[in-house]
Amino acid sequence: MARPNDLKYSDITPESAYLNRRQLMAGLVGAGAAGAGMMAAAGAQAQTMPDFEISGFDTSETPNTFEEITTYNNFYEFGTDKGDPARNAHTLTTDPWAVEIDGMVERPGSYDLGDILSKVNIDERIYRFRCVEAWSMVIPWNGFELRELLDLAGVQPSAKYVRFETLYRPDEMIGQNRAVIDWPYVEGLRLDEAMHPLTIMATGLYGKELPNQNGAPLRLVVPWKYGFKSIKSVVKITLMDTQPENTWKAINHREYGFYSNVNPEVSHPRWSQASERRIGSGLFAGRLATLKFNGYEEQVASLYSGMDLSVNY
Ligand code: MTE
Repeated sequence: MARPNDLKYSDITPESAYLNRRQLMAGLVGAGAAGAGMMAAAGAQAQTMPDFEISGFDTSETPNTFEEITTYNNFYEFGTDKGDPARNAHTLTTDPWAVEIDGMVERPGSYDLGDILSKVNIDERIYRFRCVEAWSMVIPWNGFELRELLDLAGVQPSAKYVRFETLYRPDEMIGQNRAVIDWPYVEGLRLDEAMHPLTIMATGLYGKELPNQNGAPLRLVVPWKYGFKSIKSVVKITLMDTQPENTWKAINHREYGFYSNVNPEVSHPRWSQASERRIGSGLFAGRLATLKFNGYEEQVASLYSGMDLSVNY
């Protein structure tokens, strides 16, 4: 299947140069383009590298390596150990792929992924990613805003929530042969959260096609929420007027909520959420302080004005 994100900047640039340029650009933006030396360096880089856009949402923190992002995963459909998805997910067939969109939409139906990708804008987003288990990464995703896909289907005014469902195919997803979870994995967002420009459907990382263990060919990424909201390998999206169930809340509602916004002030019963371990930072590296809404407070806090976030956790 032809994918518009097949050829990305990083395909024709070694990963180290890619990171350097990202860091350089971030530095220039942050410093208001001050410093003749940096400008000269940027000019020299620009001669050898194609242009690309910074979306405005990117963090300037150093991304984790491709290796780290693709070998330390949670994807229970392929096993419960962090290394299981990388070992087992090669069995998943991701082409052809379609997403069923139904419920309160004008144009319900089965949307072929190739078709979807020909109609949306694939962008690069370097996002912080924070798991409820108190580890974190920085991930350069490729993807498109979820609202573009919802607009294709036409959301009806009565819709208030979006429900997502992962593929159920135990022949190809070895973990689904055990009742660890009530399969399929499901998640949900409020409609305004789903329509927020930070919310993307990822189709790649580091300019490469999304590896199966990261939720190929299409997974949700909501960077201000704990990682379990970012449901993988999505096959169904339903627009509803009631709050949908989500897998981890259904398993244990005292530990996991519907909103699941990253919040250092509200601890999980088994993990303090005040700090986090950045994957790849070494065993003896200090822990990072966790930021409210995972650092996206300015962009998303207004979605929750007037809500008690310790009740709506
Ligand atoms: N989606 C499905 N279908 N199954 C899962 O087990 N795990 C969630 C989320 N999406 C999960 C899922 C959890 S707990 C996390 S932290 C992230 O995926 C991990 O994403 P990553 O492996 O790409 O880092």
